[in-house]
Amino acid sequence: MTDNKQGPIGVFDSGFGGLTVLKEIERSLPQYDFLYLGDNARAPYGARSFETVYAYTLEAVQWLFKRGCRLAILACNTASAKALRTIQQKDLPRIAPERRVLGVIRPVTELVGALTKSRHIGILATSGTVASESYVIEIKKYFPDITAVQEACPMWVPLVEYSEFDCDGADYFVQQHIRRLLGADRLIDTVILGCTHYPLLEKKIRKYLPEGVSIISQGPIVAESLAAYLQRHPEIESRCSRQGRRDFYTSEKAQVFDRLAGVFYSKEIRCREMS
Ligand code: DGL
Repeated sequence: MTDNKQGPIGVFDSGFGGLTVLKEIERSLPQYDFLYLGDNARAPYGARSFETVYAYTLEAVQWLFKRGCRLAILACNTASAKALRTIQQKDLPRIAPERRVLGVIRPVTELVGALTKSRHIGILATSGTVASESYVIEIKKYFPDITAVQEACPMWVPLVEYSEFDCDGADYFVQQHIRRLLGADRLIDTVILGCTHYPLLEKKIRKYLPEGVSIISQGPIVAESLAAYLQRHPEIESRCSRQGRRDFYTSEKAQVFDRLAGVFYSKEIRCREMS
């Protein structure tokens, strides 16, 4: 039986980080309803195993579907890297063949070829995203001539979550990873921020990158790619409700989420606890 009901677009992240992506998506598509879920009680995902990230992400997707979402965005690089493909290929045909799940890695990798002149790219991400090699594999698929070098920055998520991203102490950790990335490949002219938290460190990252190196922040690219996707897929678009509603849920205590969410979303949030 065809499912014609409408529902919000689900946006999932391990915690707060997906709010940096949602903020940009909303700017391009303000008319749609969005339902955000942050798995703060089990964040960060960055150093967790494939099996765990996959299991948590699948649970989140099923929860969003139960709440009526016909389309869900994994606004988390680690979840996109470790769970998206299995969910799309193995789970969706079984649990919800007419619904869709998209990630945040492909939109950036599709575009990167148009942005680099030297054909040398740097990727900054969590240990989990780096270990999955998802960025490197996707870039090679679209642009076999590009050399992509990765650097895992495990301290950067805690720096942001403890509101240290603007402080002097952050300089040490930012400089350390930028130095390693450039040490691995001096020809890099484009750096991808492959983690939802890193846009908050962008000022510091810029400080340690040589002039002329571009930084790619994924929020605006994901937003543009989602708008194009909805245009190409009227069968999904027509199932996305459009009343400009925003609902936020967390697997943690609501006050824990609300206290920090504004840093990522640039607006105060009142969220609800997942049930
Ligand atoms: N949202 C995650 C990502 O983009 C960062 C936080 C985490 O490690 O859970 O990879």
